Amino acid sequence: MSIVINGMGFPAPDDPRISLLDLLRERIGLTGTKLGCNQGACGACTVMIDGRRVLSCLTLAVQADGCEIRTIEGLAPADGLHPLQQAFIDHDGFQCGYCTPGQLCSAIAMADELARGEPSYVTADLSAGPDGDLRHEIRERMSGNLCRCGAHNGIVDAIEQFVRGEAA
Ligand code: FES
Ligand code: FES
Repeated sequence: MSIVINGMGFPAPDDPRISLLDLLRERIGLTGTKLGCNQGACGACTVMIDGRRVLSCLTLAVQADGCEIRTIEGLAPADGLHPLQQAFIDHDGFQCGYCTPGQLCSAIAMADELARGEPSYVTADLSAGPDGDLRHEIRERMSGNLCRCGAHNGIVDAIEQFVRGEAA
């Protein structure tokens, strides 16, 4: 059993009860992924498994056996920032930054959901897909990622720029 994390292979944990979050933070030392509520309510622990966003506090590490994990440490290229990271800086999308790794991972996977035409709760015409109010869609789709500092307006601004392909 092995798990690929940001392009590197790791053995799956010997203890089948360990969460993916604990594997990342406590066993591998990738502490960029944050522990918030530990019960699926805040989104701070969001990572991507095979490109889909998941709450790592509610995911057993063994469920990721054979999968590719991408965490905040795996977003940026070697020579700079991911465009969404730069957009968060440009739009003051954080204060303490604790929620930011989860916001970024969630938003990148969310943008792919939008691109695939997957509807959300606020998509007006399910058959037409999400082609209505983009900010409304972003707010709904990111509602599982809470920011205790209240930086949500900047977060939405940054994500909107990224989704529109306008982030540097
Ligand atoms: S720590 Fe996982 S959702 Fe809050
Ligand atoms: S920036 Fe502090 S919780 Fe979001």
